[in-house]
Amino acid sequence: DESKLGVKGLVDSGLKTIPRFFHHPPDTLPAPKSDPRTRPDYKIPVIDLSGDRAAVVEEIRRASATLGFFQIVNHGVPLSKIDGLISAIKAFNELPMEIKSQHYHRELGRGASFQTNFDLFQSRAASWRDTLQVRLAPTPPDWNDVPEICRNEVAEWEKEVVKVGDELLGLLSEGLGLEKNKLKELSCLDGRMMVNHYYPYCPQPDLTVGITSHTDPGVVTVLVQNEVGGLQVKVGEDDWVDVEPVPGAIVINIGDILQIMSNDVYKSVEHRVLANPLQEARISIAVFFNPGIRENIYGPIPEIVSSEKPPVYQSFPLTDFMTRFFTKELGGKSLIDYYRL
Ligand code: SIN
Ligand code: FE2
Repeated sequence: DESKLGVKGLVDSGLKTIPRFFHHPPDTLPAPKSDPRTRPDYKIPVIDLSGDRAAVVEEIRRASATLGFFQIVNHGVPLSKIDGLISAIKAFNELPMEIKSQHYHRELGRGASFQTNFDLFQSRAASWRDTLQVRLAPTPPDWNDVPEICRNEVAEWEKEVVKVGDELLGLLSEGLGLEKNKLKELSCLDGRMMVNHYYPYCPQPDLTVGITSHTDPGVVTVLVQNEVGGLQVKVGEDDWVDVEPVPGAIVINIGDILQIMSNDVYKSVEHRVLANPLQEARISIAVFFNPGIRENIYGPIPEIVSSEKPPVYQSFPLTDFMTRFFTKELGGKSLIDYYRL
């Protein structure tokens, strides 16, 4: 089974041209980086959390309502924890294939799995990355399933990321004019999925991508990346802005459910990752926060809708949303548009 080798396995075999399987249709390919359509005048804000709280709430509200992405610094997570995690994920991906492939499987229920492209059998073309997924909560992983080489770092990150998520949900709640604890009470901190990406050098980066353009389905995504770069956010009709690596910063973006809960105040924005043209691999680690209680009904938060601001989305049980996300039974629409009234 070739896919067990991962994309890194292909690169290590010395290939100079990428298999057809990875070729993306030209209309879905990113334009080359020098394309004038990429907009240097937009910048993903870097927000200092140690500033005055009201000012921080306002900066986060503004970023969440426009670009849908921002970075945070002075967030309280030591740089050594971030660097340690990135190094451990890199080390896992650079293990001999015999060891790495022991973690290869496609059963989401098992808590930890190593794959090339978790959407391999759903997408039209494969992308130039390998991924180790670890489901953290509400059902914790069997820690023996998490590769030993990064087990401690993953467990440590889980503790840090919950603190960051908690702080963030407080700021985002206040940005909506709600009590600090509102999003947390709605269980938005309780579902956590960790997705660790490794983007090896790509010999033909103009023919494929690292990740195709998509929005994140959940509440918020908390991400750290190494210095290589390649993550881009869509602005306007067809412009893209880089999420520039900032050492020690944490990248935050709004997901579909929070766009719905905020009744369109916050924006879940499309983003993508370019295929990596550099010899050094790109590493990114995303934790997706999702509501933890699947039976709950989600929709625009009642406190923020009124006769002047009527709900623009229907409400739905979370299970419905999840099923539609995984089966992609959306009649060609995005999740957001599916639930839009
Ligand atoms: C993602 O969008 O899920 C991952 C983005 C990244 O690797 O930076
Ligand atoms: Fe994403």
